Amino acid sequence: MKNRICVAVVGSGYVGLVAAACFAEIGHLVICVDNDESKVASLRDGGVPIHEEYLRELLDRHRPGSITFTSDLRAATREADAIFIAVGTPQSGTGSADLSYVDAVASEIARSIDRYKVIVEKSTVPVYTNEWIRRVIERNGVPRELFDVASNPEFLREGTAVVDFLHTDRIVVGTDSVRAAALMDTIYEPLTSGSYYENENSVPGHRTAASSPPIVHVSTKAAELIKHASNAFLAVKISFINVVANICEAVGADVKQVAHGIGMDDRIGPKFLQAGIGYGGSCFPKDVAAFRYVAEQCGISFGLLSEVEKINVEQKRRFFQKVRSALWTFRGKKLGVLGLAFKGGTDDIRDSPAIEIVQLLLREGCSIDAFDPAAMERTAEIIPASDSIHYVDDAYAAAQGKDALLILTDWQEFAELDLERLHQSLRYPIVIDGRNLYSPEHLRERGFTYLSVGRQDALASPGTPASSQNGFGQEAGILMLRRAHEA
Ligand code: UGA
Repeated sequence: MKNRICVAVVGSGYVGLVAAACFAEIGHLVICVDNDESKVASLRDGGVPIHEEYLRELLDRHRPGSITFTSDLRAATREADAIFIAVGTPQSGTGSADLSYVDAVASEIARSIDRYKVIVEKSTVPVYTNEWIRRVIERNGVPRELFDVASNPEFLREGTAVVDFLHTDRIVVGTDSVRAAALMDTIYEPLTSGSYYENENSVPGHRTAASSPPIVHVSTKAAELIKHASNAFLAVKISFINVVANICEAVGADVKQVAHGIGMDDRIGPKFLQAGIGYGGSCFPKDVAAFRYVAEQCGISFGLLSEVEKINVEQKRRFFQKVRSALWTFRGKKLGVLGLAFKGGTDDIRDSPAIEIVQLLLREGCSIDAFDPAAMERTAEIIPASDSIHYVDDAYAAAQGKDALLILTDWQEFAELDLERLHQSLRYPIVIDGRNLYSPEHLRERGFTYLSVGRQDALASPGTPASSQNGFGQEAGILMLRRAHEA
C-alpha cells in the first residue's frame, strides 16, 4: 500500500484494540502497546479479550504481519509516526476524569521522541487535555518542532465497534498544525477516499466507495468538546424519553408510538429514543459526570446534566417498583432474569442497569436464575453463583418454574423467544420487560401478564386458554386489584 503509516496504539481496551485492528485493516502497520504483560501475551497467542463482532476476524487476518503486540512503549514510540493514546480515563471522586494514565503515557512517550511524531488522544478526555499532553512532553525536554498533539475522538459503540469505526458517520480530527492534519488525512485516506470499501473482503456496513465518510477538521479543543458533548446529548435523549415514558404510563399512552412520532421529525431523529431501565456502560455515566464537571470548572452550571443523571437513577428505581407491584412481596420469590450486560451485543457489565436491579432483588430475598448470551462469566466474578443466584444455559432454563421472568438487556435473541415454550416453562406467566422487546397486545393474547416501560400493563384475562390451564387468571386478577388499590 502506498502511504502505509506506522501507528502505535497505547491501551488495548475496547477503543484501543478496535482502533488498532481497524488501522491494520485499512492498510497500516500497527503496534499495539499495553502494560499488562499477560494481556499482551494472550493477544500475541491469538486471544481476543473482548466480545466484539468482526474483531477476532480482523486480528486473525492481520496478526502478525500488520499488527504486533508489546509492552515496550518506548520502542513502539521510536518506530511509529503517530501514537494514539487510548488508555482508560476513569471517573475520579469528584466526577471529573482521572487523567493519570494519560499523563504517565505522555511522559513515557516523551522519553523516546527522536524525530517528528503526532501524539493523538483517542481516549475520551476533557477539553484542554491536549494542552496538558503538550506541556508534559515539552517538560521532558522534547523540542516543540518534533511533535504535535491531535485529538481524534472515537464514536464507536460496544457490540458494533468495528463497523462503527470502518463505517463511521464522521471522522473528527482536532489539530492546531497543518503537518499533523496532513498525517491524519493520510491515515484515514482509505476510508475518506472510499478505496477501502472497494475491497471485496472489507467489513460490510452502510458506507460504500460512493458514500465515504467525511473528515471534519477542527481545533483540538473543539474535537475534545465534540466527544463529550455528543455523549452527553445522547444521554439527554435517553433520559428525556424515559420521562416521557413515565408520563405515557400515567395517561395510558404507548411510548413507542410517541417516540416514533417524535423521531420522524428530521431535526430530532429516531435514534436513542428507546425508553427502558436507563443508560449504563463505561461511557455515558462517566462522560455525563465529567462534562458537567468541565462546565463547573468554567463557572457554568449545566443543571440539565444533573437532571439527566437523576432521571437515570430514578428510572431503575421505578422499574424495581414495577417488579414489586407484580410480585407483591420479594422474599422467597423465584425469578428468571434475561440479560446482565449493559446492552445487547456485548459482554460488558460496567455500570449495567441489569446488574444493579439483580443486586437489589437478591438483597430483597429473591432467588434468581440468570441467563445472558455473553456476560455471565463477568457477572459471576462480582456476583458469584450461590444458593440465591444460578447462571443457566438459556432463556427457558431461566424461566423454568419461576414466579416471573424479567428482561433486562436488549439482546436480539430475547425478542425472538418461543412464547409457547416460555409459557409452559414459567410457574406464573408474568414477563416484566425493561427493554420493551414485545408488543403488550401480542403477549396478552398468548396468555401472559406483561409489564413494560411507558406502556399499559397487559393482563392475561382469565378466559385465555393458556392462563386457565395453570390458574394464572387468578394471578392477573390479583395484580389488577393491587394496581387499583395502589392508585
Ligand atoms: C456510547 C456512544 O453511543 C458511542 O458513540 C461512544 O463512542 C461510546 O459511548 C464511547 O464513548 O465510547 P456505548 O456505551 O457502547 O456507546 O453504548 P450505547 O449503544 O450508546 O448505549 C449506552 C446505554 O444507553 C446502554 O445502556 C443502552 O441500553 C442505553 N440506551 C441506548 C437506551 O436506554 N436507549 C436508547 O435509545 C439507546
